[in-house]
Amino acid sequence: MKKSLIIANWKLNGNKYFINDYIKKLLYEINKNKINNVIIAPPLIYLQKIIEKLKNSNIKVCAQNVDINLFGAFTGEISVAMLKDIGVKYVLIGHSERRINHNENDEIIYKKFKIVKENNLIPILCIGETYNEKKNGKTKEVCYNQINYIIKKMGIKVLENCIIAYEPVWAIGKDISINYLEIQKIHKFIRSKIYLYDKKISKEIVIQYGGSVTDKNIKELLIQPDINGVLVGNSSLNFDIFLKIIKFSKNFQN
Ligand code: 13P
Repeated sequence: MKKSLIIANWKLNGNKYFINDYIKKLLYEINKNKINNVIIAPPLIYLQKIIEKLKNSNIKVCAQNVDINLFGAFTGEISVAMLKDIGVKYVLIGHSERRINHNENDEIIYKKFKIVKENNLIPILCIGETYNEKKNGKTKEVCYNQINYIIKKMGIKVLENCIIAYEPVWAIGKDISINYLEIQKIHKFIRSKIYLYDKKISKEIVIQYGGSVTDKNIKELLIQPDINGVLVGNSSLNFDIFLKIIKFSKNFQN
């Protein structure tokens, strides 16, 4: 069966009350519905609290960011060693909100990717084009270059046990209607490029979609052959909507 992974990216949202309520409901529903493909990416400050709450469940936890250094004089940063120390399994790398708001370029993203891999956590590499790039027909080129930067530096094997999330910048945080076939085409393109390097990795790699995902479009997205799940922003903050998304995704979990 096709793999599908659902990640809730809460971004800069949530508080203690929200978390207690959400996680209690999530644990209940996950057990009741036997769902095993959900990952929560809360703000860094709540990671440990959530990990403790989820310790007897199959829900995994993801960091939204990490520093390029392991330790030292880097005020305000969090290292992958620290994430590992508290039980984090996944790390988002290269989210467009970090590329844009924090000037993270391909070199910084590669360094983050590298340190995450070297410490045996799973990177979720976010890629995607801006509206102007799309308008100028550059979608495939931009996506390929963002992945290829890392492949060139570290070799194709680095994509083993890693996740790619195609998140077109123009679709993030909006409520736009999605052209599923167009998204499927890009996913297929990404897979076909990886195929040229390594057939096995291209077959096994999880390629998620993110941007304006809701309970209304989840079905059309997940039935596409090359979409292995979704990275959900806004809709993951509303528990009832997120529940509909994960319940539907159960049809595609391994
Ligand atoms: P939205 O689901 O709010 O569009 O955000 C997508 C996203 O950026 C997930 O990482």
